[in-house]
Amino acid sequence: MCINGVNMKNKIKNAKSLEELQVLYAETFGKNGTMTAKLKNMATLSNEERATINAENSELRTLFKDKQTELEMAALNAKLATEYIDVTLDKEPKNRGTLHPLTQSLKELAAIMESFGFTLWTGPEIEDDWHNFTALNTPEYHPARDMQDTFFLENGNVMRTQTSAIQIRAMEQHGAPIKIFAIGSTYRKELDATHSAMFGQMEGLYIDKNVTMSDLIGTLRALLSKFFGKEIELRIRPSYFPFTEPSVEFDMKWGDKWLEICGAGMVHPNVLKNCNINPDEYQGFAFGFGWDRMAMLKYDLNDIRAFYDGDVRWLKNSGF
Ligand code: PHE
Repeated sequence: MCINGVNMKNKIKNAKSLEELQVLYAETFGKNGTMTAKLKNMATLSNEERATINAENSELRTLFKDKQTELEMAALNAKLATEYIDVTLDKEPKNRGTLHPLTQSLKELAAIMESFGFTLWTGPEIEDDWHNFTALNTPEYHPARDMQDTFFLENGNVMRTQTSAIQIRAMEQHGAPIKIFAIGSTYRKELDATHSAMFGQMEGLYIDKNVTMSDLIGTLRALLSKFFGKEIELRIRPSYFPFTEPSVEFDMKWGDKWLEICGAGMVHPNVLKNCNINPDEYQGFAFGFGWDRMAMLKYDLNDIRAFYDGDVRWLKNSGF
C-alpha cells in the first residue's frame, strides 16, 4: 500500500499533461480509485491506520492540486509564447495618400470663386439638347454645333460638351439676379497631348442689373492671379459664341507666350429670354475655361492624359 502511494506521488509529480493528470486522478479518487477503496474501508481499521490514510488522502489531494496549477500555468505560458505579438516592432512605413493634383486645383478654384461671392451649381453629365445647345441660343441648324465634337446618345441626349449647360439650369431654377460657378467634366471627341475626350470645365455666370464687361475682366484676372499665386496678365480678343454677345477670348501671358485660355462674353439676350429672365432688366457675363489645363500649367505638366490615367508612379514622380 505504501509502495503504491509513493508510486502514485511520483507519477503525479512526473505527469506531463493535464490529460495524464486526469487519468491519475481517476485512478486515485474515481469510483474504483485506490484511495476511494481505502476510504470505504475505514470503519474496519484502527485509529492509527485511519490517521495514516487521512494524511495520505490530503497529501495526494494537495499534490494533484499543485500539479494541476503547474500544468495549467505551463499551458498558458506555451500559448502566450506562440501568440505573442511584439507591438514595439518596426513596420515598413505606409505610403501616405494625398489629394490628386486635379482635386487640389478644383478645391482651390472653388474656394476662390466662393470668396468672390459665387455659389457652386451642378448639373448632369448626360445632358439634353435643350440645356446643352438650344437654350444656349444654338438651335439645331446652327453651324456652331459643329464647333464641338459631340458624343450623341441614342435617345438624342448628349454627353455634356460644355458646363454652359449648367448656366441654363441655374437660371431656369433660380432666376435673376444670380452669381454662380460650376465645375464639371465635359466630353468631346478629341484626344491628344493637350486634349482628352473628357476634360474639366469651369463656368462662371453673373447676372444682375449693372454687370459689365469690366466685371468679367476683373473677376477673371483676380481668379487666375489667386490660383497661380502671382499677378496674371490677360489679353482680350474678339471671338464668337452663340450664347454671348459680344463674345471674347482671353489669352494669358505664360512665360514669353500667350496662351488661349478662356471663352467668355456678355450673356446673349436670347439666352436670358430662354430662362425667363427679362434682358431689358438684367444683363451679365459668362465665362468658361478648361480648369484641368490650368492645373497642367500650375504644375508644369505637358501631357493632360497623365492626370486621368490614375498611375500612382506618375503621381509620386511628379512630387504629389
Ligand atoms: N462654353 C464655351 C466653350 O466650351 C465657353 C464659354 C462659356 C464661352 C461661357 C462664353 C461664355 O468653349
